[in-house]
Amino acid sequence: MRQKIYFVSVLAFAVLLLNGNIADAGNLNAPMQSLMGKYLKDSGEKSFSAEEGKKLFFLKRMHSEKKEEISCTSCHTDDTAKGGRTPVGKPIDPLSPAVNKERFTDPEKVEKWFKRNCTGVLERECTPKEKGDFVTYMMSLK
Ligand code: HEC
Repeated sequence: MRQKIYFVSVLAFAVLLLNGNIADAGNLNAPMQSLMGKYLKDSGEKSFSAEEGKKLFFLKRMHSEKKEEISCTSCHTDDTAKGGRTPVGKPIDPLSPAVNKERFTDPEKVEKWFKRNCTGVLERECTPKEKGDFVTYMMSLK
């Protein structure tokens, strides 16, 4: 069953790749391509948008409880090629896969941090479309 889901996801993703719908997605490893295939299927979209992913990354919003402006860039900074810092000062490695080869290679890690960080910034989980757009944006960085 698991294998079947994996296969279908890879297939969905391969179609995307062939159509050129995801910029530079060919650089994603097989498990990540499978995750992207799942995002695509769950989102009901035909393709993802790096532009939308970029908007999500730079989006600033007022956190309803903390009463302060928060954004992905609050921790990751505006420059994805540089490292960031958590509010308690713990260093974060660069998010850009162009400079940090470990980024977007482990679906479990990606899912874990999407869940945590989307909840922290948006006060809800990211949708499959938002996650697909975000990974597409990251993979398009040079
Ligand atoms: C409160 C600080 C903070 C904010 C805000 C934040 N992040 Fe992160 N993010 C982290 C930390 C800490 C890690 C894990 C440490 C590491 O991987 O260097 C991480 C890792 C990630 C990863 C894992 C990538 C990988 O493959 O290694 C993704 C995806 C991610 N963040 C997305 C987002 C998105 C999207 C937003 C905005 C909605 C966001 N983050 C906002 C702190 C933050």
